[in-house]
Amino acid sequence: MNPTATSIKLTNCAKTFADGTQALKPLNLTVKAGETIVLLGPSGCGKTTLLRIIAGLEATDQGGEIYFNQQNMTSIAIEKRNIGMVFQSYALFPNMSVAQNIVYGLKIRKLKPQAIKRRLDEMLEMMQIEALAHRRIDQLSGGQRQRVALARAIAVRPNLLLLDEPLTALDASLRDRLRSEISELLQKLGITSIYVTHDQSEAMALADRIVVMDKGRIVQIGSPYDIYHRPKNEFVANFVGNVNHHPNVFDANYLTLFRPEDVEIVEPTKGDFEAKIISVLFLGDKSRLTLDCGFKKSIYVDTTLRQNFKTGMKISMHVEAERLIKLKTTDNGPATVKES
Ligand SMILES: Nc1ncnc2c1ncn2[C@@H]1O[C@H](COP(=O)(O)OP(=O)(O)OP(=O)(O)O)[C@@H](O)[C@H]1O
Ligand SMILES: [Mg+2]
Repeated sequence: MNPTATSIKLTNCAKTFADGTQALKPLNLTVKAGETIVLLGPSGCGKTTLLRIIAGLEATDQGGEIYFNQQNMTSIAIEKRNIGMVFQSYALFPNMSVAQNIVYGLKIRKLKPQAIKRRLDEMLEMMQIEALAHRRIDQLSGGQRQRVALARAIAVRPNLLLLDEPLTALDASLRDRLRSEISELLQKLGITSIYVTHDQSEAMALADRIVVMDKGRIVQIGSPYDIYHRPKNEFVANFVGNVNHHPNVFDANYLTLFRPEDVEIVEPTKGDFEAKIISVLFLGDKSRLTLDCGFKKSIYVDTTLRQNFKTGMKISMHVEAERLIKLKTTDNGPATVKES
C-alpha cells in the first residue's frame, strides 16, 4: 500500500444550501487507506455535494466532521488537504501546454526544477502522452485531455484522489478503455480514491466498495458483488442491474426478485412458472427475451442457449433458490445505513 494513503472518516455530514435545498441528510462514511470507493446514484442524489465537502470546496452543516487519518480536517482549507481532483469538465488551462498543466501544482508547491522535471517525465510516461507534452490543451482529443487531467491530479502525489464522472464526456469505446486504465492505475498507485458515477458498470469495474446513494442518503455500502447479489432494497437492485419480480409468492413478508441472467429455461411445464415470449432481442453473446407470465409486469430473461426463440413461443422457467433475492417488504422503504 502507498505509505501516504489517507483514511477518511465522515461523521454526521449533512448539507443544506442557502435556498433551503437539503442535498445531503446527515451521513457517516469511512474509507480505508488505499481504498477505491465509488459513489453511485441517480442524478441529484448528492454525489458531487459529498465529494465537494470531502475536498473542502463546500462546508458541511453544523455538527458534521471530517477526518483524514485521525486528524480533524473539518475547517482546514482545500489547499491544505493535499487532494488531487479530476472532474467531468477537465478544468485544464486551455492555453497552456500539456507539460505546463501537469507541473502546475508542483510549481505551486515550490518543488525544485529537477524534481519537477522528473515528476513530469514520470507522469507523461505513465499516461502514455510523451508525444503530446508540448501541445496546447485545445489541440487534444477528449480522451487525451482526460489523461492530462489525471496526470495533473496525480503529479502532486495527493493523499486522496477525487474523481467526479471523469469519463462521461467520452464516447463508449474510449470510456471502456480509460476505465480499465484508471482501474489499473488506482490499484498500482494505492491512493485512497473516491470516484463518482451514475454508471453502474463503471462502479462495478472500479470499486473496492460501492456507496449507493438516493435522495441525499446512503442506502447501501458494500462490495460490487454484495451490492449486485445482495441488494438491500428494490431501489438498489434496480439501480445496479435489471431485476424481475417473481410471479410466485413464497412468503407475504418477502418480496422476491431475480436477475434476468439467473433463469434456467426448462422443458415445458417442468419449471416454476410458464410464460409466453413477447419479444426476442438477439445480442450475439446472448438473447434477451421479454415474457408475459400473466403477471402485471413483463419478465426479462437473458439466455445463452443456442435456440431459435420466437415471439409467441411458450416456455417454462426455473430459478434456483439461492439465486432469488429476498427482500423483507418492511425494508423496502427509504433506508439509511449505519456503519459498523
Ligand atoms: N449551490 C446549490 N444550491 C442549491 N442547491 C444545490 C446546489 N448545488 C447542488 N444543489 C442541489 O443539491 C442536490 C444534489 O446535487 P448534486 O450536484 O450533489 O447531485 P449529483 O448526485 O452530483 O447529481 P448528478 O449525477 O446530476 O451530477 C440537487 O438537488 C441539486 O439541485
Ligand atoms: Mg454530480
